[in-house]
Amino acid sequence: MKFPTSLLSLTRFLLLLLLPFFSSAWLDVSVATNTQPQYHDLLHCLCSQEDAICNLIYTAQNSTAYASVLQFSIRNPRFSNNNASSSSSRTKPIAIVTPTTIPQVQSTVLCSRKHGLHLRVRSGGHDFEGASYASLSSPFLLLDLVNLRNVTVDVPSKSAWAQSGAVLAEVYHSIASASRTLAFPAGLCPTVGLGGHISGGGYGTTLRKFGMAADNIRDALLVDADGRVLDRAAMGEGVFWAIRGGGGNTYGIVVSWKLKLVRVPLRLSAFTVSRTASSDAEMTKLVDRYQRVTDKLPDDLMILVMIGAVDQVQAAFQVMYLGGKERLLRVMNESFPELGLKEEDCKEMSWIESVLHFANYPSNSTRTDSPISFAKLKAKSDYVGTPLPESALQGIWSRVHQVEAGAALLHLIPHGGMMSRISDSSTPYPYRAGTVYKIQYYVAWSGEQKEVEERHLGWIRKLHEFLTPFVSKNPRGAYANSRDLDLGMNDPTGETSYEQARVWGEQYFKHNFERLARVKAAIDPSNFFRNEQSVPPLSM
Ligand code: FDA
Repeated sequence: MKFPTSLLSLTRFLLLLLLPFFSSAWLDVSVATNTQPQYHDLLHCLCSQEDAICNLIYTAQNSTAYASVLQFSIRNPRFSNNNASSSSSRTKPIAIVTPTTIPQVQSTVLCSRKHGLHLRVRSGGHDFEGASYASLSSPFLLLDLVNLRNVTVDVPSKSAWAQSGAVLAEVYHSIASASRTLAFPAGLCPTVGLGGHISGGGYGTTLRKFGMAADNIRDALLVDADGRVLDRAAMGEGVFWAIRGGGGNTYGIVVSWKLKLVRVPLRLSAFTVSRTASSDAEMTKLVDRYQRVTDKLPDDLMILVMIGAVDQVQAAFQVMYLGGKERLLRVMNESFPELGLKEEDCKEMSWIESVLHFANYPSNSTRTDSPISFAKLKAKSDYVGTPLPESALQGIWSRVHQVEAGAALLHLIPHGGMMSRISDSSTPYPYRAGTVYKIQYYVAWSGEQKEVEERHLGWIRKLHEFLTPFVSKNPRGAYANSRDLDLGMNDPTGETSYEQARVWGEQYFKHNFERLARVKAAIDPSNFFRNEQSVPPLSM
């Protein structure tokens, strides 16, 4: 396998083209057997609805399209192929339903509940543990929102209704087509689905100015376990609070979101500068300085850092400044001269061009350009409240040099700014004031052998363990949208108590976990919507 030779190509390597799209040849269709009576009853139930959805149901038995529909938005091939690795032992859906209308979503929920079949929902399929399309427990029906992806922008009210199946690229494209000075503050990866993204928070390059995607939601339409369609007023403020970051597939199916759009300048500064230090000690000095200033910079400025090793440790600084380069250079010279930013490094562009830049797409990409596909991935996350000591940074460098790291990347996402002014219980996302930055760890690999997977998983787990003394504690923090089943999970065969689920639930949500469990008990007491890390109901 050819390995990347620069940090930017390492980033692309993590995301790009390891797999052919729509290939069913290697797809594991080891679905649960479809001989169960509930399966036939379910199909009968769906097909007998007034708004018939028979033509939108795919099963391994009766549809050659099943494999390509399932594969279409699997973004972590760890959970798609039939090999000897431990990850591939998960159950695939016995059938996939791809509704085109909200009543069809309601029918799917009602039929699936009536016939006792577990249901999972998928929007963009980016769940790091494949929870939207691969289960560790019972047979299930997959409700895929791939056909519900309309986006309607209303410029005068600075808002947009966007269906959950839309991916970020479609949302951004629709907004930019309607206005050159409106934007939505969400993630960097264009193929992430709106449904899962907002359900877990959603950070992007304007996080420090506008907060998370979940902080910028005005309303939503939720199909609950009784098949009702509820808007914000009907679901109540408790449920509306929970769906904005409290985890997907837990309170119901959000079919669309009313987004609050934000003002951005016509031209802004967006670019990436890479630094390869002549020694690890020099890199330590640079990153140490970064972590001391990054959360204190003006809200208009956000500098994310990607760190990886290609021979030497390299750091790519992704700079987003909501203003022109003259002012940016002044701010950088005052606050972070160690980066050595020069005028020729700074590129001005529109907000939509910055989206393409940070997604590593060429600036002339069109809306119909093929989506990227991905390497096998494992992700973890951490929150840093006090800058890491030099020994911790040196320890990271020595680990990213290890052969087992393969293609590994650490992404540092600064907080501060607006993030520290939003209260830690305003949404379920609790990492606000006091958080300097978040670390996203990624390791990626190709190959089918179990030992290859084990080696990379071992590497990322050891790095995470090494950083234990230096990151947030009691509980150690983790980002819900960076799902990590190493933190713990619901019992795949039985019930999981609130106390058991607190182990990982409080890592994602801290004190907000209890409120989430109470909201869950109110909206879905029978725990119909669930997955490996959904919040269990807590009544009383
Ligand atoms: P997917 O469809 O897999 O859903 C994720 C979870 O939400 C599942 O549990 C699913 O059942 C549930 N769900 C989906 N749709 C739902 C709906 N309509 N109603 C209720 N529940 C629903 N994050 C970030 O904040 N900023 C970033 O820049 C990135 N970048 C990024 C890049 C890459 C390559 C990956 C793989 C992931 C990210 N992420 C990210 C993480 C991403 O935000 C996270 O994985 C989201 O949950 C993905 O949402 P999808 O709809 O794509 O996933």
